[in-house]
Parts: sequence; C-alpha cells; structure tokens
Amino acid sequence: MHDRRGLVGVDGAVDVIDDGVARGGWGVGVAAWRGGDCVGGVGGVGVGSGVEGGTGRKVGMVEIAPGAQQFIPPQADTLDELRAAAAGCQGCELYRNASQTVFGRGDATARVVFVGEQPGDMEDQKGLPFVGPAGRLLRRAVDDAKLDPGHIYLTNAVKHFRFELRGKRRIHQTPDRVHITACRPWLVAEFTKLNPQVIVVLGATAAKALLGPSFRVTRQRGELLPWPAAAEHPEDFQRVPVDSVGDTADAPPTQLLATIHPSAVLRADDQDKAYEGLVADLTVAARALT
Ligand code: URA
Ligand code: SF4
Repeated sequence: MHDRRGLVGVDGAVDVIDDGVARGGWGVGVAAWRGGDCVGGVGGVGVGSGVEGGTGRKVGMVEIAPGAQQFIPPQADTLDELRAAAAGCQGCELYRNASQTVFGRGDATARVVFVGEQPGDMEDQKGLPFVGPAGRLLRRAVDDAKLDPGHIYLTNAVKHFRFELRGKRRIHQTPDRVHITACRPWLVAEFTKLNPQVIVVLGATAAKALLGPSFRVTRQRGELLPWPAAAEHPEDFQRVPVDSVGDTADAPPTQLLATIHPSAVLRADDQDKAYEGLVADLTVAARALT
C-alpha cells in the first residue's frame, strides 16, 4: 500500500510536522517504515537505496528526508516570494553542503519553461540556474532553435547542488530519488505561478520529477505530450481557474517535450551530433508556440 502521500506527496510530512512530532528535524520518516516496508500515510520521503556519503538521517538502509512542503508559504503570490522562502529550505540533506538554494529564474509570463536537473558548481556559487558550461550550451541551442531567450523561465528539479568532494574539487553527483521527491513541491509551487505553452524537460532527473520514474527520455524525446495529462500526478499541476466561471482563461493548452540535458551534449563522444539533436528537439518546441 504505497499511498502517494507517504512516499511521494510530501504533504503527508506537513501533517506530522504540524503535530509537532518532528519539527525541523529528520525523524519524520521513522514511523513510515516498518520492517523495511513503506507504510503509506505517514510523512517523510524515503528511498530504499539511499545510503551514501551524505548527512541525511538513515533508518536501516533507508534515507529519509522531510521534504520541502513545510517550507513553502501557502499564501505566496509570486515567484519572488517562493524564491525567498526556498532560501531557507531544509527539506533534504542537500542544503547542508551546498552554498545556497538555486531557485528558478526568468520571466513569470514565459511561454517556454525549462526544467533541468540541479544546479552545478557555478550555479551553486552564483545562486542562479544555468550560468555554467551547460547553461552556455543551452543558451546557444535556444538561439539556434529560434526560441526567444528573453521569454523563457529556467529552473531545476532539485534546487541544491549535490556533489562529492575529491580533494578540493566538487564533483557533481546525480540526485537520488529521495532528493527529487523531497524537492518536487518547489517545482509544483513554481508551476502554480507559471503559464507556459511548452515545458522543456532536460534529461532524466527532470523527467523523473515531472513524468515519473518509468519515463525514458531516449525513447520519447522530441515528442510533444499533453500537459498536465502526461505528468506523473497531473492533479498537482492542474491550473487554478482564473475567472468566476471557472475557466482557465483562453490560454492555449500546454505541451511538454523532453530532450537530453545540455551536459549530456558536453559529455557525448560526438558532440556535434548530440548538439544537433538537442537543437532539433528545441525546434519542435519552438514550432509548437502559437
Ligand atoms: N545543469 C542543470 O541541470 N541545471 C543548472 O542549473 C545547471 C546545470
Ligand atoms: Fe530543499 Fe530541495 Fe534543497 Fe532539498 S534540494 S534542501 S528539498 S531546496
């Protein structure tokens, strides 16, 4: 019985925390796990393979994070208010070692929203998404696909940099499911303030956050999918009616397109070919704009 409030819907954590059981701490998930099996309905985010060099609380072989939900101000009206609140997020262990939260940036009225993986080393230092090498490559691809770079919004599935120290070097580590799940409420909250025509999912981590663990970017890249119907939990992304009749205005429907991450282009054996593929996918997104 994997109730999504227990595993995915971090809202479960809020109930527990509001009861005063685990305020500000890491203990939320303890009761959620019995005999190694997840029992739904209790807060906290846990993933079975979570033992690693991090500082998160571990219960048996399970890493637990309370999730971001409790840090999100329910009455936030703007992305700026969300960004300010995200600066104090401790929803998972990643805030401990990273320099700062890297929230989304760009135009709230953007017709294209990009969702990446997590901030990199440079983003962590500057506090802005996509300002390092992957960001530069993405910017070039946006131009080549004839998307308007002034009207995009850029964000990440996970908002703190996850890395491993090797000597003095900070080596990128892919976020685990526990981090993706813990951070997802920020992404959901951002989408309540955005109204894109196309959402571009960059790589597997963003795809996991929005489309669920079974989505394969390699299989479905470049395809326009209906949004939020294609989401793992479409109800999280349903638009709030904007008028008294209950319509979501006359806004054109939103579509989603997944493609490879710009970092994958930088790592590819054949970078030119990988880059062309990225631009081809982004061109599909550009043509979908009305
Ligand atoms: N890669 C990402 O996914 N996001 C960034 O912000 C930078 C690099
Ligand atoms: Fe919060 Fe996300 Fe940072 Fe974890 S990665 S502390 S959930 S903002």
